[in-house]
Amino acid sequence: MKKAFITGVTGQDGSYLIEFLLDKGYEVYGFVRRSSVDPYQRLESFLSNDRFHIVRGNMRDLSTIRLAMEEVVPDEVYNLAAQSHVGLSFRCPDETFDVDYYGVGRIVNEAMKVNKDVRIYQASTSEMFGCEITPQSETTPFDPISPYAEAKVKAHEEFIKGYREKYGIYACSGILFNHESPRRGKQFVTRKITHSFAKIKLGQQDLVELGNINSRRDWGYAKDYVEAMWMMLQQDTPDDYVIGMGKSYSVRDFVEAAAKAIGRTVTWEGSGVDEVGKDQDGNIIVRINEKFYRPTDPADLVADPSKAMEKLGWKPKTSFEELVDMMVTSDIEALSAGSRL
Ligand code: GDD
Repeated sequence: MKKAFITGVTGQDGSYLIEFLLDKGYEVYGFVRRSSVDPYQRLESFLSNDRFHIVRGNMRDLSTIRLAMEEVVPDEVYNLAAQSHVGLSFRCPDETFDVDYYGVGRIVNEAMKVNKDVRIYQASTSEMFGCEITPQSETTPFDPISPYAEAKVKAHEEFIKGYREKYGIYACSGILFNHESPRRGKQFVTRKITHSFAKIKLGQQDLVELGNINSRRDWGYAKDYVEAMWMMLQQDTPDDYVIGMGKSYSVRDFVEAAAKAIGRTVTWEGSGVDEVGKDQDGNIIVRINEKFYRPTDPADLVADPSKAMEKLGWKPKTSFEELVDMMVTSDIEALSAGSRL
């Protein structure tokens, strides 16, 4: 039975990847750090599975990583752990670098020591690209404009591409564009919108405050994307792949689609920070708040996933509209059932 070691296992992608790998028959080890809030919210359904194991440790603590690797000796490592909020990385650059850059080095080095044939997946990101050239593919030059993106570029160049060339290890970067789901954290814009609109629908909230609504992203369904992670590690040779839908939408588009899912039509009035979104009855349901702007923010990230489609045979199964509907419906159901998540 193959052993997979996943960092960042408590996050959205971690939970989908556990499900996927358990289905494939893997023994799955999730690396989890101590937290005063419940880290197992997304993991409850796996805790009783005898092929799923929690390994305690911390991306910032080398000794815990060494011990974990010695105990598990994984065949495959999926490094999903990160300080993953781009906006927050401007306020917490040291933590971001420690986890998103040095942490990758700790994981890769320790994994190589216990198994020279280990296969490593690194969660790279569309944020590594600038927006000068669209769409972005594996050959588009990197142009990071946030501490988060800088850390991810350095980790990729040194520990993934660099180690592949220097030591011949099997390591791949999945350059994933935005991927969302009902399990997405509410600090990210899609879930912030769907959760707020579900509350608006249920009369529990009046409006949502957003930052730059003209920003464009290529949004897909996280469950479709974890399959690509696994596919990357099943090839004859390691490589890097862009994963995305191939179409970008603005935050404004996302708002309109989510409003439609709760039976409202949005019209926009005003401009800049004074712009508001009103529903068909004239109620303001969207306001702009400068506090959610970032010092710098890529304007339009859109994937060219043709390499992954051709070489891996990967294909997304869920459209933008299906994704928005799924997220809004799930939030309405959860809130109606009294969930605070
Ligand atoms: N979070 C947030 N909150 N973003 C907002 C808001 C708001 O109120 N208003 C507008 N935005 C804009 C952001 O400025 C950004 O341009 C866009 O919405 C998307 O923001 P996020 O949902 O926070 O995602 P991201 O694109 O910055 O990064 C996510 O996707 C990357 C690519 O997969 C994260 O998951 C990264 O970790 C990941 O690498």
